[in-house]
Amino acid sequence: MKSTKGMKIGILTAGGDCPGLNAAIRGVGKTAALKYGMEVYGFSSGYLGLVNNEYKKLSVRDMSGILTVGGTILGTSREKPFKKKEYNQYVRSKPEQIKENYEKLGLDCVVCIGGNGTMKTAHKLQQHGVNVVGVPKTIDNDIWGTDQTFGFYSAVNIATDAIDRIHTTANSHKRVMVIEVMGHDTGWLTLYSGVAGGGDVILIPEIPYDKDIIMDYLVHRNEEGKPYSIVVVAEGIKVPPKKNGQPRNKSAGTYIAELIQKETGLDTRPTILGYIQRGGSPCPGDRILASELGAYTAQMISERRFGEMAALKNGVVTSIPLEEVAGKLKVVTPDLPLIKQAISLDTCFGAKI
Ligand code: F6P
Repeated sequence: MKSTKGMKIGILTAGGDCPGLNAAIRGVGKTAALKYGMEVYGFSSGYLGLVNNEYKKLSVRDMSGILTVGGTILGTSREKPFKKKEYNQYVRSKPEQIKENYEKLGLDCVVCIGGNGTMKTAHKLQQHGVNVVGVPKTIDNDIWGTDQTFGFYSAVNIATDAIDRIHTTANSHKRVMVIEVMGHDTGWLTLYSGVAGGGDVILIPEIPYDKDIIMDYLVHRNEEGKPYSIVVVAEGIKVPPKKNGQPRNKSAGTYIAELIQKETGLDTRPTILGYIQRGGSPCPGDRILASELGAYTAQMISERRFGEMAALKNGVVTSIPLEEVAGKLKVVTPDLPLIKQAISLDTCFGAKI
């Protein structure tokens, strides 16, 4: 094997933050420095740091004591350097700036820790002549090619705890409580926290709902003497536009709560969990997954396996070409065993499945 001593790697965290990012930075950085003798540079605010050449050399000391800390010590942004802009002959494009900064610093690889958008950009950078390795993270758990992303189970814990708490107040007031959970495109977090929290109705973007099925179910529960109901809704479910065709500016949770109140007369309240789901310390499972993926990423770099993403497959840490990941989404499918089991427990998904 070629020597890895003196190899230079950059690390960045991009997209929405999540618990476990610091554990991953530590996993990659410490392994790279201690096991392989590499130099580690942390770029600030996602791809923006690469464009603007904002970085800091990270010592092993800098990467100590961050395993349990939420957020990211590097900062993050949703910067998309390949988004088409007006460039003329006097203005270098962002990808050109990145390449120039990468070469000036003499980097061998940039570790891009992020979600779907981050992997798409990482793939483009690789094609542009910048070596990259991807590390998947997101509370949404929707990255193609990996069974699980870190951040997901921490968010499941937070959302489930919130649903548990809402249960007790729902019972006291005999109300229907609607809880809106994050997930614009996919319903993994809503499904898992909804099942863990004993949600009576679970609505996710992948399963289009019929409002009449939801209303009949809730009225029936009420007539059966069940004093309250819990409805867990993904933020990304479709809500119809207003009568004049204008988009509705209400959140999905608020829309569903108002609809239930109007159609059934049952006393109904919405709660939008929001950014609390992305904050705070990672759960033990996410700390382990982020550390494992991080350490494996350093190994991938040592073997010069660029243009790939570290991934978890059937409980084993491995990798997958970014080409296969970029532009895809891992969605919940209605035939998922968890959905079938939930239905057998009388959970309503707002549809005939
Ligand atoms: O991190 C993913 C996610 O939490 C989505 O579920 C959500 O729609 C999105 O980020 C919102 O994040 P931001 O407001 O930071 O763009």
